[in-house]
Amino acid sequence: HALFRPIQEAAPPSPTKRRTKVSVVGTGNVGMAIAQTILTQNLVDDLALVDAKPDMLRGEMLDLQHAAAFLPHTRILASPDYSITAGSDICIITAGARQIPGETRLNLLHRNVALFKQIVPPVARHSPGALLLVVSNPVDVLTYIAWKLSGFPANRVIGSGTNLDSSRFRFLLADHLEVNAQDVQAYMVGEHGDSSVALWSSISVGGLPILSQLKGDEAAKEQEVLEKIRRAVVDSAYEVIRLKGYTSWAIGYSVASLARSLLRDQHRIHPVSLLAKGFYGIPDDREVFLSLPAQLGRGGVLGVANMQLTEEEAKRLRRSADTLWSLQYELEL
Ligand code: NAI
Ligand code: 2OP
Repeated sequence: HALFRPIQEAAPPSPTKRRTKVSVVGTGNVGMAIAQTILTQNLVDDLALVDAKPDMLRGEMLDLQHAAAFLPHTRILASPDYSITAGSDICIITAGARQIPGETRLNLLHRNVALFKQIVPPVARHSPGALLLVVSNPVDVLTYIAWKLSGFPANRVIGSGTNLDSSRFRFLLADHLEVNAQDVQAYMVGEHGDSSVALWSSISVGGLPILSQLKGDEAAKEQEVLEKIRRAVVDSAYEVIRLKGYTSWAIGYSVASLARSLLRDQHRIHPVSLLAKGFYGIPDDREVFLSLPAQLGRGGVLGVANMQLTEEEAKRLRRSADTLWSLQYELEL
């Protein structure tokens, strides 16, 4: 319309300027928390939403669009048809069954594998160059499934993994040590869930290692407190699900932080679920995905951090790999 007129001799937009696009498949609690966090962070030009429930999906799209006056400019699209995701830089998959109070993540496996068989092939077909970021649970096994079903190289298939568990760990450690969680370095690795492994040796505050500063009784006492904190991390999701029915805000921020590191090629280290065979004593013939601290950038997983694990930590990590392997082994694709 006549609100603006082009200047004379204007060139058409440069074909080299690409729009950045992220798609979110599954617009339940988790998908919408991710979508809204990404919007507030001014990360993308286009945000595409897909869900199997068309009315709810359109309602969610409109509700987000109505915030346009308060948000950075982003085109928000939605459709149950996967063609809406075409040309995405990142496809985030959050569709699927979630736990009822007391249920484990692993219990969701068969229901969500069946859904992934419907979801991953069209996602991969419409965005053959995308990074796949899997969030649905059990996230490690489903990331493996997404890798197999997509045919993508392993560096482009990532699970949100223990990026969330590590934030819970840092929050509880910060509370215990009375410091800011952003100054706490600490990693949980392995399965996102019950067999996750706390890397005690990784804990530092402002660069100061915590445990190696303490001696004798003091160290033993601190170790006891840290073990309680590890158990609280593993119980976190169960507690939130018991109290409010699902978890959403923390996973929203966690996945938005992964999207930022990937899209902006930040080379930051995040513990995420990746093809772990050959790392830290996990045998080369075990095609398991589990979380290890990895450097993330525009190409996906750029490398896995070579950390010094204690023998006990490495043993627990291999046990976590065994748990996941025993589940994967029986799946038919
Ligand atoms: P929800 O029930 O609120 O949403 C799931 C959505 O998936 C629904 O909107 C449903 O219509 C959609 N859906 C189902 N089948 C579909 C299909 N074939 N195609 C497209 N959409 C489909 O569940 P919520 O709370 O959002 O959780 C989603 C998943 O995320 C669960 O598996 C949950 O366990 C997992 N989760 C993972 C976390 C992590 O750290 N990796 C954290 C929190 C949840
Ligand atoms: C979480 O840890 C349930 O996996 C989900 O919040």
